Amino acid sequence: MKGAADTKKVYLLAHPAGHSVSPAMHNAAFERLGIDAHYQALDVPADRLAATVESLRSAAVLGANVTVPHKLAVMPLLDSLSDAARSVGAVNTIVNRDGELHGDNTDAAGFTRALVDDAGVSLRGKKAVMLGAGGAARAVAYALLTAGVARLDVYNRTRERAEQLAGMFAHIGTIDPLLDDNLHDTVRGADLLVNTTTVGMGHVRNDLQEGDGASPLPLHSLPQRGFVCDIIYRPRKTKLLKDAEAQGLATQNGLAMLVYQGAESFRRWTGRDAPIEVMMEAADRGLG
Ligand code: ATR
Repeated sequence: MKGAADTKKVYLLAHPAGHSVSPAMHNAAFERLGIDAHYQALDVPADRLAATVESLRSAAVLGANVTVPHKLAVMPLLDSLSDAARSVGAVNTIVNRDGELHGDNTDAAGFTRALVDDAGVSLRGKKAVMLGAGGAARAVAYALLTAGVARLDVYNRTRERAEQLAGMFAHIGTIDPLLDDNLHDTVRGADLLVNTTTVGMGHVRNDLQEGDGASPLPLHSLPQRGFVCDIIYRPRKTKLLKDAEAQGLATQNGLAMLVYQGAESFRRWTGRDAPIEVMMEAADRGLG
């Protein structure tokens, strides 16, 4: 008989470790596939990060997820990095390969699979516009360019950050900062619009269900025919997505990206395809 001592461990390294739906999502998947493993969130302050990462080398540990505020700080503590982790400049997944720690980033692959597998959007040759140039935008830019979009225009409140981001990824594909004067026409003609800014998000102390009611774009500047994606999942429907739907556009929120990045991490830890439906249901329930 197997005891708890045989149960493999996966950890989430976070600080604080509060609101994540990842434990519910992964434990539901382990249970469905009959994998004797358990996923647990750990509250890891910065001064404990190195020691905690070191402990992941144990044979009892399959790996970990890494989230705010450790996605960058963890990188020099690992033995190797995937191309995605290196290009995005952040690690969200650690895989324990017989005591060697490999850093990966599944946010980009998760974003692509959510669009392609869940929403049925094809990306190759398409004109995409991305709003935002922060940390989340880096994963989305890498995802879209490696998926073969024809061009990616990046609009950000602070133009310098859009320029910087375009410079980071110019070796992968056509990516340009978008200026105010061209915003309206470029978005109107886009096949795909992705919001990566925090505009529209619910705040912990405000209303998580409704969000802040703001949209990163005025109504008249939405795409005429394109698909609109918001990587926010709290609230499930931001003002941007409501506006897009009111115009008859197809949309997707950030829940699918959350689930598919989890599914990609799951596959790296276990070698098994993740049960997407089970994870989707658990994540959806976890959001309340
Ligand atoms: P994340 O890791 O979630 O991407 P981030 O790196 O802080 O978070 O980036 C937040 C993004 O939302 C940035 O693009 C930011 O624009 P700036 O670079 O100009 O700060 C954008 N953002 C946040 N609040 C905004 C607002 N009120 N209006 C427009 N853009 C906003």
